[in-house]
Amino acid sequence: KTVYLNGEFIAEEQATVSVFDRGFLFGDSVYEVIPFYRGQGFRLNEHLHRLEYSLRAIQIAVEHDWIAILTRLVELNGGGNLSVYLQISRGNSGNRSHVYDAEMTPTVFACCSPIKDIYSAGPESVVGVRAIVTADLRWGRCDIKSTGLLPNILVMQQARQAGVEEALMIRDGLLTEGASCNLMLVDKGVIYTPKRGSEILGGTTRALILELAAENGIPTQEVDIDYDRLMSADEVWISSSTRAVVPVLEIDGQPVADGNKGPLWARMFELFTRYQNN
Ligand code: PDD
Repeated sequence: KTVYLNGEFIAEEQATVSVFDRGFLFGDSVYEVIPFYRGQGFRLNEHLHRLEYSLRAIQIAVEHDWIAILTRLVELNGGGNLSVYLQISRGNSGNRSHVYDAEMTPTVFACCSPIKDIYSAGPESVVGVRAIVTADLRWGRCDIKSTGLLPNILVMQQARQAGVEEALMIRDGLLTEGASCNLMLVDKGVIYTPKRGSEILGGTTRALILELAAENGIPTQEVDIDYDRLMSADEVWISSSTRAVVPVLEIDGQPVADGNKGPLWARMFELFTRYQNN
């Protein structure tokens, strides 16, 4: 496999980073996960826009032609359907110090791995998931796509130990999002999702759901969602770049409505498929 590291396309085995890299020592780094289908970036501009937002938020200045780099990386890995991981850390400070030098050179790393084209596989291939609701242990800037994912990893492991696939997080009585996905619910034909703010990541897939809903006359509302509202929903969905939109069929051991994939989910999946084919 070929990866990208600091200006070079090299074999995975040749790519090494200093132990004093601040990404390694502090999680002083941000990232993106971008799906490519048939060699083409899906919502690439939205991802790059969010990357710039994250970089600005933690004051890393880096000038790169992201589109050229990622497109080349995908080509070098055979094109097709790939998920691209792009990480930028503040760089190597030569020692461990909380204080950093504003002039440091960032470490830029990208790699890719195969994904299946969910859209070609069709709605039947989408497996609904079961989830637990658990405390959101994260920091106050979840809108920054930081690689500091320890709380996300811990809640995900908690879900696995509970024998389910997903963890939905709750803070101050309100649902925020999943360990690596956004959260939506459907009630009487309306799609509800938590408001954008520092408590959640502004998901590119979340934005696409709201966009497609608006274009197709499906009402949406960005609102506070408490536990009761979640548990009484007609449908619950999670969304992310790598999984698109997936129905949640069981939460804390209770079925969501009748425990089957919902009709509005099927409609949204169809809208995604049509969008992806254009
Ligand atoms: N995660 N919320 C969190 C906490 C996430 O980590 C992600 C994505 C999302 C969805 O964002 P988007 O629709 O733009 O992918 C929401 C990626 C896929 C990951 O960490 O692997």
